[in-house]
Amino acid sequence: MRVFALSGLLLINLLFAHNAIAASIFAGQAKAAAVCSQCHGINRPSADAPFPSLAGRDAAYLKTALKQYRDKTRKSEIMNAMAGSLSDDDISNVATYYARLKP
Ligand code: HEC
Repeated sequence: MRVFALSGLLLINLLFAHNAIAASIFAGQAKAAAVCSQCHGINRPSADAPFPSLAGRDAAYLKTALKQYRDKTRKSEIMNAMAGSLSDDDISNVATYYARLKP
């Protein structure tokens, strides 16, 4: 009985964690489709470089890059403007989304 209750709790935890990630990916995808895909692609991510490919890149790397663009410690006229209006949640969501995309 105790084991049952415990594994039930574990399952609930897993489900919630999974939902949080799914929500984040979903929101990230919406943002990416509306804004980022114009340059970075979405179905064929960045097939047409000059724009760096984001698909499958490390989420932590993407987050750091976006925060650096936002606070202008990393300079790019385009990306400083793009990241300027992103919230921490936006950054986390798009990073999670792109990181899980197959390159
Ligand atoms: C108008 C075109 C354009 C749009 C729209 C755009 N980007 Fe970019 N992005 C660029 C360019 C150009 C660079 C390369 C800038 C540089 O030299 O640092 C870049 C670089 C980046 C990088 C750094 C990649 C690396 O290899 O270090 C990230 C991360 C990024 N963009 C994320 C995004 C996200 C997320 C969005 C949507 C919110 C977005 N970009 C929208 C043009 C764009």
